[in-house]
Amino acid sequence: IESKTLDVLGTAYATDDWTNTPPAILAKTGRNLLHQPSHPLAILKELIFKEFPTFAHYDSLSPVVSTHQNFDSLGFAQDHPGRSKTDTYYVNQNTLLRTHTSAHQLQLLAAISQGEHNVLMQAKNNFAAPRNERFLVAADVYRRDEIDASHYPVFHQMEGVCTFSREEVRDKIRQATTAERDSKTGGACHSDQVAQMVDATVVGEDNPMQSAHSAEEVAFLVKNMKQAMNDMVVQILTKAVAAQQSSGEVSASGSQAQFPVRWIDAYFPFTSPSWEMEVLFQGEWLEICGCGVMKQEILNQAGMPDRIGWAFGFGLERLAMLLFGVHDIRLFWSSDSRFVGQFSPGRINSFRPFSRHPSCAKDVSFWLPAESTFHENDIMDLVRETAGDLVEGVKLIDSFTHPKTGKGSRCYRINYCSMDRNVTNEEINVVQELVRKRMVEQLGVTLR
Ligand code: PHE
Repeated sequence: IESKTLDVLGTAYATDDWTNTPPAILAKTGRNLLHQPSHPLAILKELIFKEFPTFAHYDSLSPVVSTHQNFDSLGFAQDHPGRSKTDTYYVNQNTLLRTHTSAHQLQLLAAISQGEHNVLMQAKNNFAAPRNERFLVAADVYRRDEIDASHYPVFHQMEGVCTFSREEVRDKIRQATTAERDSKTGGACHSDQVAQMVDATVVGEDNPMQSAHSAEEVAFLVKNMKQAMNDMVVQILTKAVAAQQSSGEVSASGSQAQFPVRWIDAYFPFTSPSWEMEVLFQGEWLEICGCGVMKQEILNQAGMPDRIGWAFGFGLERLAMLLFGVHDIRLFWSSDSRFVGQFSPGRINSFRPFSRHPSCAKDVSFWLPAESTFHENDIMDLVRETAGDLVEGVKLIDSFTHPKTGKGSRCYRINYCSMDRNVTNEEINVVQELVRKRMVEQLGVTLR
């Protein structure tokens, strides 16, 4: 009964045994939240675009990309867990819904280096110089994941790519070291200082610089990157605080807000060295984004061997939730006018929650199939497909192995709650029954 093609955004793709994108996820590909000017995510997008006025801005790239773009072009190992069907929505083996905006790095750099203006203009949102080797990409991304108030299988990311010609960097380093020498008496040799700068930023063997780069180049890139990201985050969080103050959520202290930042060593296949940036905001360290010095192979492949660069990528939802006081990530997908009607382009204001509707928890216990290819994300997808946005969370509450039969048992609690209306227990029972039935049919579990 299975159809042989899958329609995504008007194009039919042949399916194969990698195809695992369900209809409810496909339906999200056409929502284009980033193109609705008064949607909080679009407002945040514009805010960040404004922080990088000299960059080109792209926000119209299709979420359907090749496996090559999403993984191979970025140096993901063949056995990288991100490639797994349990984590990624495949259209077919060679085609998938992008899991991150980095999927467009090589493609855009290559189009820029080859002057393919039409490709670029289609995807573009502003009119910065058409051949701009510095750009931002805002887009929807898709990942199979757990279900709770801050996870949703579709979310949005902003990618930043900033490259420099090696000559430009050489000049800048020369200027900096000359200025340094002039400011001191004695005029000692400064290669030591540059080396120290690198030591201070590039931590340990686990986070190495690339052999293609000199210590000075890495020091320059890392400093430039951290500065740019720091400036952006401070600008945005300052606006968040101002919005909270004007809505009376936080008392105006009059003192200038400060946002301490820390850089945690990280690993990405397409940057080295790499970091995770975290910001202390209202008592909590927020993971803002991943970043690092771009792998030189990517620039070489794009036809830019004479350039070096840095890149970052971060999720918009987390920041938007803070900025607009939105406590449930599902609200971003609501078309209820009591949500969308509260925002307007270019303005940050705190969301006034409408009445919270009662929630209803249902448990389901079952034995795992003997031949277990079972993955938790299969349950997440199944529940989502059956209950849609009625589901607020799915949590494992019990797990054990039978001592005699060796069979695995699981119990999940499904929390149902509508964002915009009251639901009856009868209505939920019908959904829950359907969930149970499909778990047996599709996952081969035995209900207990
Ligand atoms: N693409 C990475 C992610 O989704 C983030 C990232 C982007 C890291 C660019 C480094 C450079 O987690």
